[in-house]
Amino acid sequence: MGFIPDNTIDEILARTDIVELISSYFPLKRAGRNFKALCPFHKEKTPSFMVSPDKQIFHCFGCNEGGNALHFLMRYEHLEFPEAVKVLAKRAGVRIPEAKKESPGILELYKINNLAMQFYHHILLNSSQSEPVRDYLAKRGLLKTTWEKFKLGFSPPQGEALVNFLKEKGIDLEPAERVGLLMRRESGGYFDFFRGRIIYPIFDLRERIIGFGGRVLDDTLPKYINTPETVVYKKGENLYGLNLSREYIRDKGFVIIVEGYMDLISSFQVGFNNLVASLGTALTPEQVRLLKRYTSSVVVLYDGDKAGELAALRGLEVLLEGGLEVKLAVLPSGFDPDSFVREKGKEEFEKIIKEARNILEYKLEILLPQYNLQSIEGKVNLIKEMLPTLAKIDNHIMLSEFVKQLADKVSVSEESIWAELKKGRERKRGFNIEKGSLEERIPIFSSLREAEITLLRLILKEKSLVREARSLMEEDFLSPEVKKIVNLLFTLEEGNKPIEPSRIVSYLGEGFPNKMVTRLLMEEDSEEAKQDYTKIFSECVQKLREDKRRKTCERLREEIALAQKEGNLERLEELLREFNAIACGRK
Ligand code: GTP
Ligand code: MN
Repeated sequence: MGFIPDNTIDEILARTDIVELISSYFPLKRAGRNFKALCPFHKEKTPSFMVSPDKQIFHCFGCNEGGNALHFLMRYEHLEFPEAVKVLAKRAGVRIPEAKKESPGILELYKINNLAMQFYHHILLNSSQSEPVRDYLAKRGLLKTTWEKFKLGFSPPQGEALVNFLKEKGIDLEPAERVGLLMRRESGGYFDFFRGRIIYPIFDLRERIIGFGGRVLDDTLPKYINTPETVVYKKGENLYGLNLSREYIRDKGFVIIVEGYMDLISSFQVGFNNLVASLGTALTPEQVRLLKRYTSSVVVLYDGDKAGELAALRGLEVLLEGGLEVKLAVLPSGFDPDSFVREKGKEEFEKIIKEARNILEYKLEILLPQYNLQSIEGKVNLIKEMLPTLAKIDNHIMLSEFVKQLADKVSVSEESIWAELKKGRERKRGFNIEKGSLEERIPIFSSLREAEITLLRLILKEKSLVREARSLMEEDFLSPEVKKIVNLLFTLEEGNKPIEPSRIVSYLGEGFPNKMVTRLLMEEDSEEAKQDYTKIFSECVQKLREDKRRKTCERLREEIALAQKEGNLERLEELLREFNAIACGRK
């Protein structure tokens, strides 16, 4: 867990009372064994934010935010993990041992990136061969202060400019290859990866340079090349510009997502600072989690030509799955954010952002003209088309709100839409173990199988069952999240470590598995239900095993058919033996 030893974190948590901590920010009201309040992480009218003094965790049943005292602090004060640990350590009077430094290898890599940035930046500002580049940037309206703010650069076209610079500085070239700045010649020696390109350094949230983008000056393809995946540059785990924009995002209460480097830079230049750029790739769940540290509301700003496409909307559903409120702002055809801001200016840009509309409304609007709402069939098909998007909304309040709107627009009852949504979910789950008990779990667990979840819930609550669950194997679980949690429990049990709620979530870090755990832990069972734990447990184990067997049989059937078709008798015999051993025929 980073540079702070686990036992220090355990001690900090042990000496912190989560109820006291949260009460120092806003009042909590007692509710049975727990405390409750209006959730600070989403808008609500009745409290669904719960804090458990016994378990030392919090969970909001409205937006599914959850975790221990550290997670609360990170989320509420917008702190990174180590910062939150420091704050809490101070509060609890725990001294953090002198941090182990990051391995020198990694530091060296950041240092090389930083040197390269300075080199390229210097070339852009001072070299006579950058004259056309400076003209180009000026023609595109970028002021010199902006070049400086974003540390733009230029990589000379010759091919060994960076190599020579690094050599002069006495830098080892091998690590420079590892960060993607240099490439090795077959004949030996190195040459520059970026040649004749405008350089956009990419910073992480700790202001370290993790990679670069490089743009040509003309129409040559590819227009951009980027640092390949390296030890320090992981695509999809970072967002361009977030290091500069996070404070503004928090202040304004929302973030604008654009696609390109230039879109972001030009907007910054006219005073729009709450932006990030996705750099032309589909958003990942990691990026969504990153954004969620700062806001729960996004406006996606697309080129005018792209916005009408349903496919483009689908790419944004990951934001909905993350529980964010997603709006779409559309530029007039032929513009991208960069050209729009430069030609039309700040006020027009502001107007476009203000006119952003909810992604669901937007999708509905694209779909409405395609269906005949006078006919039942038209209504059914339209709703069918909307359902997958609805199913992705990870926020119950938002979902209800939209179901209301949809019902109204299409003139069907809300209940019928709910019924359809539920049907989809049940099909996904496949079977029910404890009918009813998990109903209200939607949407967070929608895609996870009931038996898996129930099993997880039981072993979280009844420690003696963790040992018993070890008879199951990793591949018996389908969901990667459940796998992750179960593995953690196994490891803790194996090492004879205490299996306490706040510790479990502290090992899980931020993110979905964590929320799942806080939620399951927060749900109280009656004494009566507890009597049945063992029985339900073995039912779940059996279900998981059966399911695995069924899958194996299905696979074998397919393979057998194939072997028959190919006339591969040897293989056929082998498969049939396997088939019989698992007793696939019987049921
Ligand atoms: P300008 O053409 O200078 O205005 O750049 P742009 O940022 O507007 O580019 P565009 O809208 O074409 O693309 C958006 C983003 O997608 C860029 O900022 C790049 O991150 C990425 N991108 C565009 N073209 C390429 C390419 O050829 N290769 C790669 N790897 N990424 C690209
Ligand atoms: Mn552009």
